Amino acid sequence: MKLMICGKGGSGKSTITALLARQYTAEGKRVVVLDTDVSNVGLHRILGTAAPPDLTGYFSGKRSMREAMRNARQNGIPRGTPLLGTWTFDTIPPEYLSENRGVALVSVGKIRDATQFGKGRWVGLARQFLAGLVLAADDRVIIDTDAGVEHLARKMGEACDAIIVVVDPSYESICLAATVSGMADQVHVPVYFVLNKTDVHSSAFLRNALPDSFRIIADFGQDRAILGAGFTGCPLPAGNPAVMSVIEMIEGVHAAQSGCAPLRT
Ligand SMILES: Nc1ncnc2c1ncn2[C@@H]1O[C@H](COP(=O)(O)OP(=O)(O)OP(=O)(O)O)[C@@H](O)[C@H]1O
Ligand SMILES: [Mg+2]
Repeated sequence: MKLMICGKGGSGKSTITALLARQYTAEGKRVVVLDTDVSNVGLHRILGTAAPPDLTGYFSGKRSMREAMRNARQNGIPRGTPLLGTWTFDTIPPEYLSENRGVALVSVGKIRDATQFGKGRWVGLARQFLAGLVLAADDRVIIDTDAGVEHLARKMGEACDAIIVVVDPSYESICLAATVSGMADQVHVPVYFVLNKTDVHSSAFLRNALPDSFRIIADFGQDRAILGAGFTGCPLPAGNPAVMSVIEMIEGVHAAQSGCAPLRT
């Protein structure tokens, strides 16, 4: 399964990505985290890994992305077709992975100087990486995105099996959740909301204010251990009950959609 995490800036996308990654490995799954945030650089710290090299290096070395995309457009090749080959968790070049305790981190790339314009190139690369990635039954991919819905507008959601919108108690988060909910029929994958950084009042307020509140599957609450890890850049604590509910819910729906029993270990 490929899970995309999106939401407003600072809502907790990277935190929830890391919590999901840790919980999945605790349940015996193999996990690759794909970092598609081209600006923020801290994901590796909360996963406890080193920063991986940019995947752009791999793809540019292999073949020009732009050329492949242009050919695909000219020849009417359907979107989502792997244009640069296929790979598995075992054949991703090890030099582009950073690992810690069963979680492997891959990063599309980071903007490091003022000449690196053209964000579409990074999103195209992430889409190609996901399209070419063939999963075994116990493989899980978690995609951390940067703020907003640009990834969805650029059709990255179509390369995923589910989208999780992280909603913190703010007007912007409510609006963004409404926007993604409105896109659900276009991306054809389940869209879930997880509430984050709430207290009892803001949780109740969000449940009331959010459109399509049936999408809410968990509430992480304001958590001092998470906040502390975020401050210090330490790996996140394991065993968060909200993350277990998220996994149970999305695995159950995914198994029902694929017509097989959920894979629990
Ligand atoms: N449940 C929580 N309780 C307390 N603090 C939290 C919680 N979730 C996230 N945080 C803190 O909020 C801050 C932002 O979290 P995070 O970096 O995960 O957000 P983000 O959505 O990935 O941000 P960006 O849009 O900048 O990538 C961090 O300092 C993190 O530790
Ligand atoms: Mg982030």
